[in-house]
Amino acid sequence: MTLTDSALVRACRGQDVPHTPVWFMRQAGRSLPEYRKIRESIGMLESCRRPDLVTEITLQPVRRHRVDAAILYSDIVVPIAAAGVDLDIVPGTGPVVAEPIRAEKDLDRLRPIAAEDVPFVTESVRLLVGELGATPLIGFAGAPFTLASYLIEGGPTRTYTRTKAMMYGEPGRWHALMTRLAGITLSFLRTQIEAGVSAVQLFDSWAGALSESDYREYVLPHSREVLAGLANKDVPRIHFGVGTGVLLRAMADAGADVVGVDWRTPLDQAVKQIGPGHAVQGNLDPAVLFAPWEVVEREARRVLDQGRAAPGHVFNLGHGVLPETDPTVLTRLAELVHEVSGSQ
Ligand code: CP3
Repeated sequence: MTLTDSALVRACRGQDVPHTPVWFMRQAGRSLPEYRKIRESIGMLESCRRPDLVTEITLQPVRRHRVDAAILYSDIVVPIAAAGVDLDIVPGTGPVVAEPIRAEKDLDRLRPIAAEDVPFVTESVRLLVGELGATPLIGFAGAPFTLASYLIEGGPTRTYTRTKAMMYGEPGRWHALMTRLAGITLSFLRTQIEAGVSAVQLFDSWAGALSESDYREYVLPHSREVLAGLANKDVPRIHFGVGTGVLLRAMADAGADVVGVDWRTPLDQAVKQIGPGHAVQGNLDPAVLFAPWEVVEREARRVLDQGRAAPGHVFNLGHGVLPETDPTVLTRLAELVHEVSGSQ
């Protein structure tokens, strides 16, 4: 059930709102002591498969910060683990794939998935929708390019050399891999929507490694497959990446209702690039939260001002909450966004 009257969904649709909705990417986990306590005795992936824990961890930042949306506690690699890939999330590093996918035969290790392969997701979303009441729940997935980079490299990378080697050197294999990933991602998002999320975000976190022309040729058709496949679902689709200043228009063209912008591009400039008809999400630099409060306030007011250039604005950071962030600053920031935007 989409909460169509919530500030989040209304802003995504460019409708008027009582205040600018605010939530924080990576608000669940990381910076919260109550999260770290739960995780003392259980691994990351295991915790994602426990609906009782998923529910508790997803609710923690909503209780604390009074944000306008919850984001499902999970990870972008959860659906590819369900598809049959042996992987783990290593603390401090990120996803590590035991046997990277590089040769033609490796593609067969990536099976399609259906709702039955992720029953814990359906159950978690149902429990959360019951607990959250009027607060919308955001579902999410990793976009095919970002997932492909982990699968091909075997873990995080700075250079994307093996990923690009396949993209340029073996375009047939590249597109076959991206097609499989698009299918998995689409199925995973549909499962979340059918269970009751009110919006979805497609994280193409690492797409900023590409030029616009390469993005349009090698990536956009596959992200479009995912986003277009959700068009009839009546939930807003947010599309986000880091360092994507030159890709914003292309990421909107892929079929997003809302384009997520990192801190490098001012929102009013982003709106000019994206063109009419799209809301924006962002974009306070997560590192600003380590500066004195006066600086946080000044920067947050600037983001709110620049966000007025769009038909709708969802306040967020320009990327995820950094683990060392003081959670009390996040609470104060959410309050400030409500105050400033609600009094205009
Ligand atoms: O936003 C939320 O709070 C919901 C939960 C969420 C997690 N991962 C939990 C998580 C979301 C939306 C993600 C998405 C994700 N995961 C992305 C896209 C967003 C982004 O940051 O660009 C990416 C690239 C990943 C892959 C990933 N998972 C990395 C690089 C890491 C290690 C770095 C880190 O964040 O600690 C993870 C692990 C991870 N995913 C943790 C959490 C809470 C930390 C694990 C731990 O506490 O041991």
